[in-house]
Amino acid sequence: MAKLIINGGAKLEGELSIHGAKNAALPVFAAALLTEEPVIIYNWPAISDVYNMLSILEHIGAHVAYEKDKLVIDTRRALRWEMPDKLAKEIRSSIFMMGPILARFRMARFTYPGGCEIGSRPIDLHLRGLKNLGVNVTEAGGHIMCEGRRLKGGDVHLDYPSVGATENLMMAAALAPGNTAIRNAAREPEIAELQDVLNQMGSDVKGAGSSTILIEGKGKLRGFSYTCIPDRIVAGTFMVAAVVTNGKITLKNVIPEHLFAITAKLREAGAQIKVYDDAITVIGQGRPKEMHLIETGPYPGFPTDMQAQMCTAAAIAKGTSIIVESVFDNRFKHVGELLRMGANIVIKNNVAVIKGVERLHGAEVKSMDLRGGAALVLAGLCAQGKTVVEQARIIDRGYETLESELSLLGADIRRED
Ligand code: UD1
Repeated sequence: MAKLIINGGAKLEGELSIHGAKNAALPVFAAALLTEEPVIIYNWPAISDVYNMLSILEHIGAHVAYEKDKLVIDTRRALRWEMPDKLAKEIRSSIFMMGPILARFRMARFTYPGGCEIGSRPIDLHLRGLKNLGVNVTEAGGHIMCEGRRLKGGDVHLDYPSVGATENLMMAAALAPGNTAIRNAAREPEIAELQDVLNQMGSDVKGAGSSTILIEGKGKLRGFSYTCIPDRIVAGTFMVAAVVTNGKITLKNVIPEHLFAITAKLREAGAQIKVYDDAITVIGQGRPKEMHLIETGPYPGFPTDMQAQMCTAAAIAKGTSIIVESVFDNRFKHVGELLRMGANIVIKNNVAVIKGVERLHGAEVKSMDLRGGAALVLAGLCAQGKTVVEQARIIDRGYETLESELSLLGADIRRED
């Protein structure tokens, strides 16, 4: 069991460059199935969720070749339309494959996807959307069978702007004859990235970034090359690291616009933040101030993937902060661990009331999910004494080399496998 061992108290100072975004890369990998031509992806993040996704593509019959920065996926020989249960359970993003597999083979068989244990994470919106595109969906024995001989464009209204459902439906519609409209679509930056990729492939997609996306399906799509945008959640995590250690960190290769919600809250916490074209500097100003209310929501709202990290900042803030988790149920598992480090947090349903304490203390804690694990590392960085974060591999799902980057910034952190 990998562990991260942190001796807290160091001020983090220096510069680092933010790696490619997991949530942009994963749907784009799935889009490789929409064409028989090779696709090239640059600046891909070397994280375990990405390697799992590549294993799924290889299982389907794709050829995958990669070097440090460049990844080539060639799906010419892809032939399987069944998702292997084991891989699908490891990574929720396997669900993105449903639309592309259906569009490619007009058949798909899936098991319910896994991923982080952060609530029930149903897939009803994906399935209802596909039904609106003429797909026949049947469910039995934990498996979902989709038959798409009559796949065609259609009108979809999502009850909630689900990121995954929007992406899945965009990809299925790109190879479906006719026109599709997705209303109440997600507006995350990753949706606009997927739109650009689909358009590069020869489809006609408009509206990403707004809540209505229009897609004109094509019979055949071309290969593409894509450079992953920087990961806004990784950037946000380092921004909080600067605040909780009272340090000064410059993040290069970021898109500041994607970080506005995080920037606003950290400024409220008293941090000084300088924004440049593609960089951002965060300077801690002593103990953070309370953040009156952070409520997670679909983009451009406050990202749920930053909620846990903000809990750590609030845990050492001067006053009382309130955090409302409105996207996922059961996403406060890190709170029990923060309590072991001396935090003062009360949870009622989806609301956390956090009364800041002057200092956390080191403890043995466990990563319960990806971002919750990152939040515990942040807590360890500012705590007094030694913190051991167990189940550190969960953190590798979304961060390339968290501990070596933190070490370069001056943290006393090491891994034990
Ligand atoms: C994506 C991100 C994840 C982020 C989340 C919300 C990727 C790979 N993952 O996940 O990091 O935390 O967006 O920003 O991009 N829902 C349903 N039915 C469905 C689908 C979703 O009820 O069919 C609900 C979910 O349970 C959740 C909410 O909608 O409560 C948001 O989920 P969704 O936007 O789909 O998240 P993901 O695409 O899984």
